[in-house]
Order: sequence, then C-alpha cells, then structure tokens
Amino acid sequence: MSHFSEMTVRKGTRSVKWDLAEEIYNDPDVLPMWVADMDFKAPEAVINALTSRVEHGIFGYTMPDDALKSTIVNWLEQRHNWKTAKDWITYSPGVIPSLHMAVQSLTSKEDAILIQTPVYPPFYSVVKDHNRTLVTNPLVFKNESYSIDFDDFEAKIKDHKVKLFILCNPHNPVGRVWTREELVRMNNICLEHGVTVISDEIHSDLIYSEYKHVPIATLSKEASNNTVTCLSPTKTFNLAGLQASYLVTENEEIRTKLTAHFNKQGMFMLNTLGITALESAYQQGEEWLEELIETLEFNRNYVTERLHKETDALRVIPAEGTYLLWIDCRKLNLSQSDLKSFMQKQAKVGLNDGASFGEEGKSFMRMNIAAPRELIEKGVSRIIQAVEK
Ligand SMILES: Cc1ncc(COP(=O)(O)O)c(C=O)c1O
Repeated sequence: MSHFSEMTVRKGTRSVKWDLAEEIYNDPDVLPMWVADMDFKAPEAVINALTSRVEHGIFGYTMPDDALKSTIVNWLEQRHNWKTAKDWITYSPGVIPSLHMAVQSLTSKEDAILIQTPVYPPFYSVVKDHNRTLVTNPLVFKNESYSIDFDDFEAKIKDHKVKLFILCNPHNPVGRVWTREELVRMNNICLEHGVTVISDEIHSDLIYSEYKHVPIATLSKEASNNTVTCLSPTKTFNLAGLQASYLVTENEEIRTKLTAHFNKQGMFMLNTLGITALESAYQQGEEWLEELIETLEFNRNYVTERLHKETDALRVIPAEGTYLLWIDCRKLNLSQSDLKSFMQKQAKVGLNDGASFGEEGKSFMRMNIAAPRELIEKGVSRIIQAVEK
C-alpha cells in the first residue's frame, strides 16, 4: 500500500488535529479536516534517520551546524532556483516564532504593519500582541479568484507610514501562488516606501503542477536585501511537531537585529530530532514530495469536481498551492454560526471556520485535503448528503 493511501490511527498521539478535535467539536464522529498537518507518514528516509538517532539513546545539546546550512542552501537552489549563502540563515523553532521575532526586532510600538486579508489568523496576533498597528489590504474576490488591489496596497502604505509588510506566499487560506508580476509590483512599492518585507513561504514546496513558486527575495538584489523569508520543512514533509525552521535574509543589518533578538530570548538551538528530520528530508525526501503533490492534486480535483457536480451551493476556490481548500458557502445562505454548526453537526466534518481568517472569510470554510483518499471521500460525501437534506 502506498504511504499516501494508508490510514494511520492518530487518535491517542496527542494530535491537535485528531485528539483536540474531539474537545473542540464535542463529537467523536466529526471527521477532522482542519489544522494544517497531514494524515500521511513522513518519508521513510526521515523515519529511518530518526529511528537511528533515537537508537543512539543520548539526546544532549545538539548543534544545528554549517553542514545543515549547506543542506538548506542546496534545497533552496534545487527547488526554487534561489542562490543563497549559509550565513544568510538563522534557525528558529517555527515560522510563528519567526514572525513574532521579526515584528519585535524590526519595528517599534505602534509602527504600522500591513497584511493581506483574509489570512492565517496568527498574522493578526503577531501584530496586535506587540502593540503594533494593524493595517489591512483586503484581497479582491472576483469571478471565484483572489487578486491584489495595488492602489489600496500603496495608499495604505503611504497613509499609515507602514514599516513592515507580512506577505503570505503561497497564500493561506485562499490558495494563491503569487505570480512574478504580482510580486514585482508589491516589491517595487515596498522598496519605494522603505517597507521591509517578511515573506512567509512555509507552503512554498506545495505547488500544483500548473504553477510555479517565486521567492520574493529572488526578484532582484534590492529585493533580497529588503526581505526576510520564513521557511521550514515541516509543512512539506509533515514534521510540524518536531519544530525545526529557519529564516533567510541577505541583509546583514536585519540579520544582526534578528539574531540578537533570538539570543535575548535564549533561543539559539534546535531540537535534536528536528535537526535530523530537517537534514534527511531535504537530502532524501524529494521523490516522496513529488508523489505527495500528485496525491494532493488528485484530492484537490476530486473534492472540487464532486462538490461542484453534486451540490449547487458550494464552490471551491481553485487552489494553486497548499493542501488547504477555501470553500465558498455563500449560497447555503446561513449565518456564520449556522454554517459552522451545519458542517459540524449535520455534515460531521471538522473544517476551519472562514471567519477566523478575518471579516472577509465569513461564509467560507477551509478544508484540509492532505489525507488518504478514503478519508477525503468520506468527508466530501458527508457534506454532499448534508446539503441534499
Ligand atoms: C502561513 C503559515 N505560516 C506559519 C504556519 C505555522 O508555522 P510553524 O508551525 O512553523 O510555526 C502555518 C501553519 O499552518 C501557516 O499556514
């Protein structure tokens, strides 16, 4: 059986997606299709590397060394045609911690920070938690597709004297992989107005076959010097619980500020098993990744076709990247709390509430499709039956 069709029991492993779901949805029968991790085992090479590290038996302080940085540099060049250098890399336990660190070290209280909504909920809290001013550039939703209002983007930057722009590429939850042209326009506006770009590219390895991810830092030397990119193998290879991540920036001044801030929090290590997983995934995980993308593409098409054919009420926004589908439920004509309750109680599927991504997410739900086909089929059938009723 392929690793992508095997159903592995996750209940009882302290899994947020499965064990916490019971608490949140208050029903053991709800099928969890929410939190962004996958119901697939990590690549066998990673499991073997971890097993052998565990068998060693000693888990003392471990150095995320230069060799690990070379592995990262090679991965970025191989997958994204991005030439970086070892000294551009700073380790971090996760992208969320990286965003918090970037906000704290690169801005001051009340400074304005721009985000594009609807967006992954921590984008709001990393701004608000540190008493910075949140400025939004809502994405434009037209003809079932999302785009950027560049006039609003520039006006907001000028009017609020924005210091930092946090980009999400690919975008969670709307599934856009921003094109080179879109990135160039955003980047030019940021350069013109002295706005530093923090680019969250955690989903950048999960791109469907018709699309291509362009790291914003690769646009030009100026872009490279104006950008901090937050990356991680944890979404790509399903390693979120191991917490190993990193930031990349060519700009030495920014890097020094960031590193100083990490050091001030006593954060300058990675966990032993995270290091092993990161290294083995980037060195030996590529074939598995290709197969994963085929599986996700199948799931994306399957969910879209069935929901479109078998209901009139649900529209799946075409996903260009990520394993998260953004579903337009406006035709169900339900209030947000009724929509949540409908999915949970009638359909018995645990989706993410669209409103948690911001005001613009109302009447939408987010579905995680990184699971064996059996689970996906069950989830989709449950939704269709509930809508029919
Ligand atoms: C856009 C985005 N950034 C960051 C994260 C979480 O990153 P980490 O687990 O490395 O903190 C997620 C997880 O869903 C995400 O979608």
